[in-house]
Amino acid sequence: MQAGTALGTGKALLTIAAFLATTAFAAETLDPDALRRLVQQDCGSCHGLTLKGGLGPDIRPEALGHFDREVLTGVILDGIPDTAMPPWRPLLTEEEAEWIARYLQDPEAR
Ligand code: HEC
Repeated sequence: MQAGTALGTGKALLTIAAFLATTAFAAETLDPDALRRLVQQDCGSCHGLTLKGGLGPDIRPEALGHFDREVLTGVILDGIPDTAMPPWRPLLTEEEAEWIARYLQDPEAR
């Protein structure tokens, strides 16, 4: 019985260690699947599900080719003042916004 308890505690500690390891890992890396979903669902709610335009303009690769990557990242982070384009800084890190900028301009790039 005592051996059983010790085993149980060991297992719980292992679970906690595994949990800490994965959360620390997640905080430092991008989650491309989650970002792709965000682009489709959140950006898509204004720019259209296929991003070809709706309330907001077309943001498919052909339409964004002229944007400097840094400027585009800035638009995503800070929005466009006095328009419906909201700032995403509260929800995204700079790395994530830059990932989205690259993804929008070149969806095939990894
Ligand atoms: C609430 C609606 C809304 C949401 C959500 C939204 N946008 Fe916009 N976005 C707009 C509008 C409206 C404009 C046009 C603003 C203007 O008049 O210049 C715009 C403009 C832009 C532009 C500039 C396009 C150009 O050619 O000038 C980019 C890039 C852009 N949005 C990207 C995004 C991305 C990426 C997301 C998701 C992270 C997003 N938007 C979410 C409404 C939205």
